[in-house]
Amino acid sequence: MNDLAGKHIVLGLSGGIACYKAAELCRALVKDGATVQVVMTEAAEQFTTAVTMQALSGRPVFTSQWDARTSGGVDNNMAHINLSREADAIVVAPASADFMARLVHGRADDLLSLMCLARPIDKVPLILAPAMNREMWAHPATQRNVKQLRADGTTVLDVGAGEQACGETGDGRMLEPEELIYDIARFFQPKPLAGQHVLVSAGPTFEAIDPVRGLTNLSSGKMGFAIARAAHEAGAQVTLVAGPVGLPTPRGVGRVNVKSAQNMQKSLDLLVPGATGVISAAAVADWRPALAVEHKIKKDGSGAVPTLSFVENPDILATIAASPRAKSGALYCVGFAAESHDLEEHAQAKRLRKGVPLLVGNIGPATFGQDDNALLLVDDQGMTELPRASKLVLARQLVAEIARRLPG
Ligand code: CTP
Repeated sequence: MNDLAGKHIVLGLSGGIACYKAAELCRALVKDGATVQVVMTEAAEQFTTAVTMQALSGRPVFTSQWDARTSGGVDNNMAHINLSREADAIVVAPASADFMARLVHGRADDLLSLMCLARPIDKVPLILAPAMNREMWAHPATQRNVKQLRADGTTVLDVGAGEQACGETGDGRMLEPEELIYDIARFFQPKPLAGQHVLVSAGPTFEAIDPVRGLTNLSSGKMGFAIARAAHEAGAQVTLVAGPVGLPTPRGVGRVNVKSAQNMQKSLDLLVPGATGVISAAAVADWRPALAVEHKIKKDGSGAVPTLSFVENPDILATIAASPRAKSGALYCVGFAAESHDLEEHAQAKRLRKGVPLLVGNIGPATFGQDDNALLLVDDQGMTELPRASKLVLARQLVAEIARRLPG
């Protein structure tokens, strides 16, 4: 994605088995466009070597506050100052229990802790990826330290759960490199939706004909999932209401799986009272078979074909948009229009018909299943085009457009 293009990250390693993942993280940061300066504690060097980290980062590694080499282009023998001044963030991964305890107390007895203390706190954020045994993580002292670090403005990422190197199972593993990259990219995104709770519907619906057959459409859910991710990156609490798709849930996003349009409406109705926004990206089936057949429809050998009759599904979005909270502006509703032709005209008409302030038009056959798309935003001011780009890039732009339009 190159989400971190132009960012300079100081990657700190403190002591822990998870140092093996830090090598992978370093590689992933570089691949994502960042430049990386590695700083290791003496304990980290017991688990991986400066040689490995130098090879992966393409820069000499610093391990000691007494290292007299040029740092940050300066020859003043003050690596702890120079290295942090050029950083967009210091990421300590793994952050051991001991390292976090030392940060809490403002200790500065090795290069990495010294650098964390000496960094300009408003300009160079500190992000920690804790890694330790489950008992160490659960210990009140560690939990107290995490709380204090957060209160001091440090971003302490979650830990993973599962099998640990010590043979025990529980919370405390360091997140996987791809999860860390995701969280670091999220950290750098602006937060215009902080305090909002956004519902996103995504994917197709599936309308059963009998227990083994049904009607659906070609929506892949990718656009809706990208919007859920982008809204979460923008600081919102996000719940995805997803039709039957096999996509992974974006990190930090809640998910409710549904099948039919009626299921989707029921789930959204339960969630809407706590929400401040609804983005209806789902390709909801307009009709469903009139009869729900309990058993599989069998051929009788005569060549006769079954006759299906349909009833119209509820218009989920139009119903939500007609609610008093939506009308008062307390619930901001965004609709999508999947069209095959005359996008502009259909999108304008659909916005009025659905009663939503913003409608996002796209050409269904050109986007279903693809990784990229192009959007046409329609509101009472006119139209805004978002030219073809990856769905995540478009989702971030759309979220920024929505944030600009939120009342107040
Ligand atoms: N939608 C909905 N409930 C439905 C049908 C659509 O909530 N029963 C929502 C979609 O999630 C989307 C918007 O309404 O945000 C428009 O969906 P679309 O399928 O493009 O339009 P339709 O209303 O179905 O109209 P048509 O099929 O005639 O274009």
